[in-house]
Amino acid sequence: MSSVPVLSCPTVPLSNGLQIPILGLGTSHFGGFSHEAVVYALTECSVRHIDTAKRYGCEEKLGKAIKISGIPRRDLWITNKLWPGDYGYEAAKRACLESCSEMGVEYFDLYMMHWPEPLKPGCSNREMRAETWRALEELYKEGICRAIGVSNFLVSHLKQLKEDCSVVPHVNQVEYHPFQQPNHLIEYCHKEGIVFEGYSPLGKGQVLSNPTVQQIAEKHERTPAQICIRWSVQNGVVTIPKSIKKNRIQENFQVFDFQLDEADMVALGGLHDGRHVTWDPTNVN
Ligand SMILES: NC(=O)c1ccc[n+]([C@@H]2O[C@H](COP(=O)([O-])OP(=O)(O)OC[C@H]3O[C@@H](n4cnc5c(N)ncnc54)[C@H](OP(=O)(O)O)[C@@H]3O)[C@@H](O)[C@H]2O)c1
Repeated sequence: MSSVPVLSCPTVPLSNGLQIPILGLGTSHFGGFSHEAVVYALTECSVRHIDTAKRYGCEEKLGKAIKISGIPRRDLWITNKLWPGDYGYEAAKRACLESCSEMGVEYFDLYMMHWPEPLKPGCSNREMRAETWRALEELYKEGICRAIGVSNFLVSHLKQLKEDCSVVPHVNQVEYHPFQQPNHLIEYCHKEGIVFEGYSPLGKGQVLSNPTVQQIAEKHERTPAQICIRWSVQNGVVTIPKSIKKNRIQENFQVFDFQLDEADMVALGGLHDGRHVTWDPTNVN
């Protein structure tokens, strides 16, 4: 496959001054990891941001692929996530260090609580989130996590955490694509200095056959996937499409050499129907 260099990827500033690349490569548990694809993304497509989680079960393999790519660690942005089964102060600290060791890295650029509901009996969700967050605050102060965040947190969860803890999350990673636009949550995050990161930008593929998306793709001579990704980054959202196919990775990262016009943005903004393609935290107290 011919290699087409990706135009330089813009970054988004976090409240602590770090710059997160606005576009990253996702990984996941069901068929979500390919060694060759990760090496290709890093070496041929200039990808510098990778999103993973202990839950996805590929930490060790991903660490090896990153090493083999030869890209210096300091040039990469690696996000990892703490699974709720590891919530609690001691367990969270242990799990983070174990994840570092699995991946063969000394630190994560971003480490987040994966889900607002602890899978642990005993104390309330709110208390367990706060206790876990205190472990992340310490990992942050120790430099093992250069930034700390949460994922799938709603405004209510963020408000409680703000009352209970001292470091405001640097990032909240939430489902975001044309069918799922949590604009109230995005506004709240902006107001609080929390960077909004969107996952499943293609709606796991569901958005790609939408007629509006397809018409806009034809107009720009782009693919529907590129339209979804461009729309997300053009809205300032940190975006992490997942693919294990080299040609799709190349396609998904070729989105910095065109722009959607206002009519396109309005049309795509009108596609929200509230559906979730993954899990829905609405009922987590
Ligand atoms: N924090 C959380 O709770 C959470 C939840 C879900 C996801 N995430 C993160 O977000 C990332 C992306 O989300 P996702 O995997 O759920 O969904 P997604 O990126 O919206 O869609 C991935 C699906 O689309 C296909 N695809 C990728 N590029 C394509 C293209 N150019 N044309 C056609 N099909 C394409 C992929 O198949 P192939 O791989 O076969 O190409 C895969 O089936 C994950 O990898 C993970 O890092 C986080």
